[in-house]
Amino acid sequence: MIEFNVCLVDDDEHIREGISTALEAVYHVDTYPTAEEALKAIPKKSPDLVLLDIGLPGMSGTDALQEIKKIDPEIPVIMITAFEDIDTVISTMKLGAHDYIIKPLHMDALEKTIKNVLETVRLRKEVQLLQERFLKENTPCFIAESNAIQDVMEFMRKVAKSPDTPILIIGETGTGKELIARAIHFHSPNFKGPFITVNCAAIPRDLIESELFGYEKGSFTGARASGKRGLIEEAAGGTLFLDEVGDLSLESQAKLLRFLEVGEFYRIGGTKKLFVQTRVVSATNKDIDAMIRNGQFRNDLFFRLGVIKVQVPALNERPGDIIPLAKHFLFEFSRKFGKKFTGISAEAERRLKESDWVGNVRELKNIIERGVLVGDGPELLLHDLGLIQKSETERFIMRGGPKLSFPSLSSEGIDLTFAQETMERFYIKAALKIADGNESKAARLLHMNHHTFRYRKNKLLGD
Ligand SMILES: Nc1ncnc2c1ncn2[C@@H]1O[C@H](COP(=O)(O)OP(=O)(O)OP(=O)(O)O)[C@@H](O)[C@H]1O
Ligand SMILES: [Mg+2]
Repeated sequence: MIEFNVCLVDDDEHIREGISTALEAVYHVDTYPTAEEALKAIPKKSPDLVLLDIGLPGMSGTDALQEIKKIDPEIPVIMITAFEDIDTVISTMKLGAHDYIIKPLHMDALEKTIKNVLETVRLRKEVQLLQERFLKENTPCFIAESNAIQDVMEFMRKVAKSPDTPILIIGETGTGKELIARAIHFHSPNFKGPFITVNCAAIPRDLIESELFGYEKGSFTGARASGKRGLIEEAAGGTLFLDEVGDLSLESQAKLLRFLEVGEFYRIGGTKKLFVQTRVVSATNKDIDAMIRNGQFRNDLFFRLGVIKVQVPALNERPGDIIPLAKHFLFEFSRKFGKKFTGISAEAERRLKESDWVGNVRELKNIIERGVLVGDGPELLLHDLGLIQKSETERFIMRGGPKLSFPSLSSEGIDLTFAQETMERFYIKAALKIADGNESKAARLLHMNHHTFRYRKNKLLGD
């Protein structure tokens, strides 16, 4: 049984008493004589409904309505008004008031209006409760301790609310893109619908279209006699997750774009136009910008898929997640393998924090799985991790090598020779670092002969 909280704001004591006595048997009623007092209480009480007098001393009902909408635009507000105030009533309705009742109040009419409004609230709450239960039962545990990933999750929850806006998830391999795609589904209004995954890299290019769009019988050799629904159709009312979307052929990209733009498509060999409402979430660990420059990915499709973009940071960019994730996997595998691990030794923790997680969360998960299998417990030891300490240089290279940022060209202009030499100096130093000071190795890294390298080095760095 859902309990409702009603907030009543009226400066007339008789009205406050009259209404609360009439409603108390069914609802929980809080009364306030001024808008100021009500506004202070509303964020804490989060009422399901506000009854708001228009003519209040101090802040007016109209102003209070706007403040309430700022606190929570979803709280329904019913205005209470004297008959002659009808112009104000109209303006409050435009500002988002749900309904109005006219003084002198007739309790029957008031109760009926309240019941109607709360019926919508009840339905919304029921859906919310259902969704929460669904979420608990269906979403795999997503560890998000660091601010960086918490920001991603908060953004994700916001954008998930629309049922069909396309979302593109970008991030290195193993950062959790698929988990986030699932989370989007369960936080969206389509949560009860299907979640259909299409791994564009795993399906052969000549089959992907028939998989996505389906086909009519006899449309190609090998086609099933009965024809087949495509995955887009399967995803109706839910979410279609296009994983590794960068692997789609240009031809399939064109068809997908058409579907995204107008929501319609044909099965292969079919003549009937089909319409499907589903949300397309896509993910990629490829550098799509580079693919667009090379003509491998359509710019217009990229924009359409990425109306909303969610960028998932690499694990090294959110070191605060490493240990919580490691512990989560430790307990998960411990349970799975029937072992009794209770924690991670300080030495092992240190190494985990220092490691370069090129494979991100997936690599960490694999390392912990291995550790739990080979270790005896109760603590996971450094030895169990089997991590080889990487040299400074290896780490330097694995992090994507040196990073150089260029000064931007302003109206002041820029000394190009100086900029070029700065860049050259930077790469010569970086190459020497990677090559442990060995000049001929460093020269090879920069595709130069040893002689030119030495000449440039002496010129730019001095002997
Ligand atoms: N925050 C997290 N909490 C718990 N498990 C996680 C988290 N992030 C990733 N994982 C786990 O790590 C593994 C890799 O995640 P996922 O498959 O979502 O990565 P991905 O970004 O899709 O990688 P790829 O680009 O290689 O497809 C999965 O087993 C997933 O369950
Ligand atoms: Mg993936």
